[in-house]
Amino acid sequence: MCGIFGYLGGRAASPLLLEGLRRLEYRGYDSAGIAILNSKITVNKCIGRVADLESIVPAELHGSIGIGHTRWATHGGVTDANAHPHMSEDGKIAIIHNGIIENSRALRRWLTAEGILLKSETDSEVIAHLIHRAVGDGLSPVNAVRRALRHTRGTWGLCALFAEERIIVCARNGSPLVVGIGDGESFISSDPQALSAHTQQVIFLEDGDMAVLSPSGVETCRLDGGSSDASVTTIDESWGEADMGDFPHFMLKEIHEQPESLRQCISGRILKSDGNGRLNGLDLTPKELQRIPHIRLLGCGTALHACQVGRLAIEQLARVPALAHVASEFRYNDPVIDSTALYFAVSQSGETADTLSAVKEIQLKGGQVMGVINVVGSSIARQCGRGVYIHSGPEQAVASTKAFTNMVAALTLFSVQIGRARTLSVAQGKKVVQALSKIPDQIERYLANQGPIEEAVEAVKDARHVLFLGRGPSAPVAREGALKLMEIAYIPCLAYPAGEMKHGPIALLEEGSPVVVIAPKDKFRQKTLSNVQECKARGAKIILIHEEGDDEFAEEADIAIAVPKTNGILSPLLTVIPLQLLAYHTGLALGCDVDKPRNLAKSVTVE
Ligand code: G6P
Repeated sequence: MCGIFGYLGGRAASPLLLEGLRRLEYRGYDSAGIAILNSKITVNKCIGRVADLESIVPAELHGSIGIGHTRWATHGGVTDANAHPHMSEDGKIAIIHNGIIENSRALRRWLTAEGILLKSETDSEVIAHLIHRAVGDGLSPVNAVRRALRHTRGTWGLCALFAEERIIVCARNGSPLVVGIGDGESFISSDPQALSAHTQQVIFLEDGDMAVLSPSGVETCRLDGGSSDASVTTIDESWGEADMGDFPHFMLKEIHEQPESLRQCISGRILKSDGNGRLNGLDLTPKELQRIPHIRLLGCGTALHACQVGRLAIEQLARVPALAHVASEFRYNDPVIDSTALYFAVSQSGETADTLSAVKEIQLKGGQVMGVINVVGSSIARQCGRGVYIHSGPEQAVASTKAFTNMVAALTLFSVQIGRARTLSVAQGKKVVQALSKIPDQIERYLANQGPIEEAVEAVKDARHVLFLGRGPSAPVAREGALKLMEIAYIPCLAYPAGEMKHGPIALLEEGSPVVVIAPKDKFRQKTLSNVQECKARGAKIILIHEEGDDEFAEEADIAIAVPKTNGILSPLLTVIPLQLLAYHTGLALGCDVDKPRNLAKSVTVE
């Protein structure tokens, strides 16, 4: 989604901004632009990639102050004019904005009536004009931004470049902004990952915070006029180091990183002799775990599917009622919040606006929310205060892979921990944690011998639609497989619990329709086998993900892909891997941009 990168210092700003924007590319965007201040502000912007922007930026564009943006269209089509930065009419103020200005229609009408010619269809442009009017009324840059934002409703990560004062004023409300502090220079970014190449000293702005970048350094304050609590923290250097190595795409690299990232996630968190898990960040005593009446897990996209696996693990291992919720629906359904219950917000980026809003709603109503998050120091992690970092390392491909497996592993460890505080015996706990500690090696073994993925690609790549089926923990895996294939290869995919298939999707089946079935050798296997027969009777082509050694089931399939055997509730950690590979190789076969699929964003910071 939209990305921000700004610089103020002694070096040439333009190459720094282009490099910063390149580091934000993984978030997903459709246009890009920069504004550089020399004797005046010069804006270059265009639709397409940062490389397209680079090709139109003149080599002799001098200036050591600038702001850059990658735009993911919300209001107004994908056009050069709608790309950011946007300028005030006198060309002395340039702004870039992440988020949505909800009352922009009214503001646009009002500004037009005042005689201002709006040059774009965006909601963001109004901010430049509002600031300009406030400056015209004699306000300082900071107070002008304050007044402009008092007129706007919505969310913002905003940077305004002032030509006369040669400063950048930033403000955050619901859209992340991080200030980077260097030696005689400062940076601003929507993502700490883009800063870590330059500095490890950062200030995470909170909602309502402002920051002023000037040649004398960085000052923070509050939008409402008070002083800010924002302080300098040190970020982990490794977050900046994500490159593709020997892999052709980030997605493939991240699929292959799963054994190692899973080891990072579970290391130090398994108590083998007690058959227990230890997630210190939750800071919950066994007594507290015993009293929790029910658990709710919230997430979007792949994180939601991890929640759906997690809730089954919690119910199975701890016998505590648990439900998974679509985060974007949660807040607006006026949820009943139980202050004694436990809520989990699950998110790779820790910035997903839908999930963050749900967290705030739960907290407002007195509920306790823990984060299950990858990006350290992200908005949701900080908002929750407590929780589990999943330690996947940087995930750059838009389609999430290694974060899914680590979310599932972290939630399984929690299930064991709460289970052991309640009814789960040492022996049962041991079985799960021992099986979990073997998974990284098992994924490695599977990746070394992936089975007939290419045959599966041939079966799905020209299909009109693909149906994914699974039962129990394999039902969310089916959803995840369908999501991946749809995201990466643009093939319409439908996922159903296998038993529900006969109540609708069966109508889609005709000779040759590909059906992907996830069926490890668990208690659901026999029933799933019956559903496979029902599909075959209608001519469907079965692509089966099964457990090694289950030859009886494999013989029923047209294409059978075996994964190593594990404990029932852990099977998603293995069955999902061939589905990730299927999506990747199908996308590739169809010539799709697998790391940056069209219209999608990695970090969705608008609701
Ligand atoms: C976007 C991404 C998905 C991701 C979802 C939730 O839609 O394209 O891959 O699963 O957001 O992201 P989160 O960062 O909260 O896990």
